[in-house]
Amino acid sequence: MGRNRTWIAAALVSATAVGAVLADSHAKSSFAAGIKARQAHMQLYSFNLGVLGGMAKGDVEYNAEAAGLAASNIVHLASIHQPQAWAPGSDNSANEGTRALPALWQNFPDVGQKSAELFAAAEAMKAVAGDGQAAIGGAMGRLGGACSACHKAYRAPEN
Ligand code: HEC
Repeated sequence: MGRNRTWIAAALVSATAVGAVLADSHAKSSFAAGIKARQAHMQLYSFNLGVLGGMAKGDVEYNAEAAGLAASNIVHLASIHQPQAWAPGSDNSANEGTRALPALWQNFPDVGQKSAELFAAAEAMKAVAGDGQAAIGGAMGRLGGACSACHKAYRAPEN
């Protein structure tokens, strides 16, 4: 696993220290900013994936530059490390406004693997994003699958 491929894994490891500090000071409300930040991060994934999905489906005319940019953005997003946004204790069992399941903090190796797969799938998309609508469509399953594999395991359904 490369340095860039483990954003959540690395984030979670360093987040342990941050979480201890937060728990000590009973600063539970400071989780709110981190939760908001990680959800915004996810929204950026979604926005860029939507650009690619629209072209893959033919809803939006294929544009090599826009496709390359969206794929590259997802690669960059998958390289962001923000441990404070994933502090232990910030799961949905103790906090409002988050769908992150406690299981995420109990399965670091698997979370790291799922993050690494997202990074790899995003790189694969970036590699073919300039090759036309069909190429994007071909890479879409793996990329979208990387998102939903993690959601299935670590995100509560919307209620
Ligand atoms: C390693 C795990 C993981 C991966 C990979 C992942 N997500 Fe998420 N995602 C989560 C978790 C956990 C949440 C819930 C966060 C919360 O509510 O605090 C979430 C929430 C979301 C949300 C809701 C954000 C909000 O405003 O509440 C969207 C949209 C989303 N993800 C899109 C994506 C897309 C698109 C991808 C792939 C490009 C992706 N995610 C990859 C774990 C992941």
